[in-house]
Amino acid sequence: KNIVVLISGNGSNLQAIIDACRANKITGNVVAVLSNKANAYGLERAKLADIPAYFVDPTLYNDRTDYDKALIEKIDAYQPDIVVLAGFMRILSPDFVTHYQHKLLNIHPSLLPKYPGLHTHRQVLANKDSFHGVTVHFVTEELDGGPMIIQARIPVLPDDTEQSLQTRIQAEEYRIYPLAIGWLADERLKMQNNQAVLDDIAL
Ligand code: GRF
Repeated sequence: KNIVVLISGNGSNLQAIIDACRANKITGNVVAVLSNKANAYGLERAKLADIPAYFVDPTLYNDRTDYDKALIEKIDAYQPDIVVLAGFMRILSPDFVTHYQHKLLNIHPSLLPKYPGLHTHRQVLANKDSFHGVTVHFVTEELDGGPMIIQARIPVLPDDTEQSLQTRIQAEEYRIYPLAIGWLADERLKMQNNQAVLDDIAL
């Protein structure tokens, strides 16, 4: 299966996905990486892995719709079976989401539906939550609101900081994102009636 990954930063999730494909844990290949940030280290990771990497410069487009249209053109050139958002820090237009629906995934560092949006680790600490976590979900027009596929949960420790939480959360991300992508690549997972269905088990 052809996997296209969209990033905006370090790309450590991208790296985990590339490695999982190389280790045959995902029946697929990352065929292209696109970023809205020129300096995203993830673009470097793609180049090091001999994967086509593109900086798509938002300043060249008039508005979100035009930018997303350019993204679609570049992505569709690779005939993607799966489009993965991995730390992609832009809101996508409804046209984009509709174009890739049922094959568009995102990872969000919270136990959704808690804490959609930004600064999740900070909110967990501020609210003295006992647990924190991360969610892989299908992307729909609702920001961080699509059908959930898999979650990982970690305890919040007394001396936890935003950084220590991010480190433990990211360790879980590198485990559950390749798992979810692998299920989609093997056609064990699908989105049906706005629900994630895994091998006929409603999740
Ligand atoms: C991830 O931790 C993810 O939870 C959030 O953004 C971060 C991206 O990190 N969406 P990276 O670019 O994959 O290293």
